Amino acid sequence: MRDRIDRIAAERTISAEDLRALLETQDASATEYLAARARETAQRVYGRQVYVRGLIEFTNYCKNDCYYCGIRRGNPNAERYRLTEEQIFDCCRSGYALGFRTFVLQGGEDAYYTDERICGLVSAIKKNHPDCAVTLSIGEKSRESYQAYFDAGADRYLLRHETADEAHYGKLHPPELSLSNRKRCLWDLKEIGYQTGCGFMVGSPGQTVETLYEDLRFILALSPAMVGIGPFIPQKDTPFGKEAPGTLAQTLRLLSIIRLLLPHVLLPATTALGTIHPQGREQGILAGANVVMPNLSPVTVREKYKLYDNKICTGDEAAECRNCLNGRMERIGYEIVTDRGDCKMPET
Ligand code: 5AD
Ligand code: FES
Repeated sequence: MRDRIDRIAAERTISAEDLRALLETQDASATEYLAARARETAQRVYGRQVYVRGLIEFTNYCKNDCYYCGIRRGNPNAERYRLTEEQIFDCCRSGYALGFRTFVLQGGEDAYYTDERICGLVSAIKKNHPDCAVTLSIGEKSRESYQAYFDAGADRYLLRHETADEAHYGKLHPPELSLSNRKRCLWDLKEIGYQTGCGFMVGSPGQTVETLYEDLRFILALSPAMVGIGPFIPQKDTPFGKEAPGTLAQTLRLLSIIRLLLPHVLLPATTALGTIHPQGREQGILAGANVVMPNLSPVTVREKYKLYDNKICTGDEAAECRNCLNGRMERIGYEIVTDRGDCKMPET
């Protein structure tokens, strides 16, 4: 198994058999070796520094109906909210004081937030905080819209591809959504010049080693600056409410594999990982992740941005999360830095 892991690290490719072997092994020393190699790889590029992003969940209105997601339009129990521009600027102001130098505006696909409004938000945040990066995570748009946000100053864009397998994509999404459009969006974002992030949930219903292999092939082809992966966690009001969650172990293995394939990638230890295990984020960092993304949204709306159940930190102010994460990272020998945290990929 060590040979396989060394070969993946050296060649930065993976075969379907390697992937199966790594995901199915019962040999704890093999998975520890995998994590150790990935951790060293991350440290070679980023040291023991962890980048932090302030996540602002600014609207939970969504026109889509993805079967896994708690803010899907078909969920009548989702209490809808939208932050005002002033609330968003306040989040950035207090985040800046806490050392955040990247703000991630994440929301459902909400028609209220027209391109004009998004561009206005982005340019105002960049004007207030010229030394900060703005990341958008607002779903599938036309190339023209992506270009307009970029021209307004947006630096990065997160759009998980969710799965790179057509049939699996169709099990997770209603027919009006297509993998081909998802991929079109990601290629457009990259061509426009964004630091682009794709990603997927680990353990989503219908996922197999084969679909994961397709995910890795797609990620290698796209060569994104960021990859967001976290466990699938059921949300009780969705069609997948009674499905089994993804596991900590598989998520950690996939984080490590992605780190070996893309040594420079920005790889978050996600909130979902922290939700399925009390030390999930620490273990994610120790498996090769190098980013954490605490929430900056006002505590009054936290509970409502419920993509999945039992989400952590819904009652904690931004400052509490920042302190909490500082401590968590220090205890494992890492440090959160006040930095935009751009991708150190030579080609981006
Ligand atoms: N469990 C885990 N992650 C989820 N997401 C949406 N719903 C869930 C869920 N039930 C993820 C999707 C989306 C990102 C914003 O959150 O991958 O792209
Ligand atoms: Fe939010 Fe620990 S990160 S309380």
